[in-house]
Amino acid sequence: MTLPFEFNSERLHIRQWQASDFEPFARINADPKVMKYFPNLLTRLESDALAERIQSLITNRGWGFWAVEIKYSQEFIGFVGLHVPTTILPFSPCVEVGWRLESTHWGKGYATEAAAEAIQFGLDRLGLAEIVSFTALKNYRSQNVMKKN
Ligand SMILES: CC(C)(COP(=O)(O)OP(=O)(O)OC[C@H]1O[C@@H](n2cnc3c(N)ncnc32)[C@H](O)[C@@H]1OP(=O)(O)O)[C@@H](O)C(=O)NCCC(=O)NCCS
Repeated sequence: MTLPFEFNSERLHIRQWQASDFEPFARINADPKVMKYFPNLLTRLESDALAERIQSLITNRGWGFWAVEIKYSQEFIGFVGLHVPTTILPFSPCVEVGWRLESTHWGKGYATEAAAEAIQFGLDRLGLAEIVSFTALKNYRSQNVMKKN
């Protein structure tokens, strides 16, 4: 496997993180709409630390919560990808598919499009028999992405 693994969907480039992603990612993590189902908004420092952790997991494994970029504008809009949850869950050990996109880019099908590629990667390239996803009971947008995939 080439490390880190990157790929394209119809409208998106799904890739390793770069330094210029950190600022827009901090805006995403400071947006109450995006963070509605998380315990708190992230400060710039917390957001950068998270981006660094995600980036280094991709460097080490070749896969993870990839940065998502719109092909035509080269704009970073958040992350979609695969992750091994650190908390123990009833269905651990597992690999989850997850997503977090800038709210101005919701409702365009980007999360579903990127998730389809990530799931295909997990099944074909990683040989996973199962990929899980979980969210808050009221996070209907996230549940919709799960249903569509
Ligand atoms: C969860 C999240 C990624 C979903 O984003 P989203 O934009 O609603 O999801 P999708 O990319 O699948 O877009 C679906 C919508 O795009 C619409 N759409 C527009 N153009 C489309 C196209 N070309 N192709 C497909 N769908 C399209 C669909 O009709 C659908 O609209 P609807 O929801 O009104 O029915 C987003 O809400 C988010 O980042 N939330 C905050 C983080 C979060 O909660 N993450 C999950 C934690 S567990």
